[in-house]
Amino acid sequence: MSRLIVNDRPVEFLMEPDTPLLWALRDAANLTGTKFGCGNGDCGSCMVLIDGQALRSCLVTIEEAEGRYVTTIEGLSGDRSHPVQQAMVAEQAVQCGFCTPGIVMAAAALLANNGSPGEAEIKAAIPNICRCGVYPRLVRAIERAGRVANRQERISAAPAPGISAEDAAGEVPALQTPSNP
Ligand code: FES
Ligand code: FES
Repeated sequence: MSRLIVNDRPVEFLMEPDTPLLWALRDAANLTGTKFGCGNGDCGSCMVLIDGQALRSCLVTIEEAEGRYVTTIEGLSGDRSHPVQQAMVAEQAVQCGFCTPGIVMAAAALLANNGSPGEAEIKAAIPNICRCGVYPRLVRAIERAGRVANRQERISAAPAPGISAEDAAGEVPALQTPSNP
């Protein structure tokens, strides 16, 4: 058994100690925002924060994560209001979206340590692979996220199509029952 803090909640994983954190998060905790891409540490789609550091969860076992604080994309902000999330939407730096959670987590870790990263620093801190090729927009988005985080700019980003802020926050509205004819 491995005990971790995941998105500010204590979690016990009853899995083999050498289970990759990625699989524990996706299969046991149902936190499927963290994506499986390569499984080899190459693509970055599985990036999460562990004690505030962006790490590839396919390369970390639950035994190695014992007692540590893990943040996934679901725990970064309940309403997608993190500056990186706002700026990614505003700059249209999301195409298919598969790589996006990993990129957002890497960018969040970067901004936590450097509020005004330049292009070279962004490229060095975010080696994630995007098959849709959003790289130029990505750099603009993260530079903009820095300005938002520093309160030099505000973004009024619309919610993603088809997803309400309540759904994103996990507040599932009561089912509507059809009225009698
Ligand atoms: S799935 Fe972990 S780096 Fe690709
Ligand atoms: S947006 Fe499609 S892989 Fe990056």
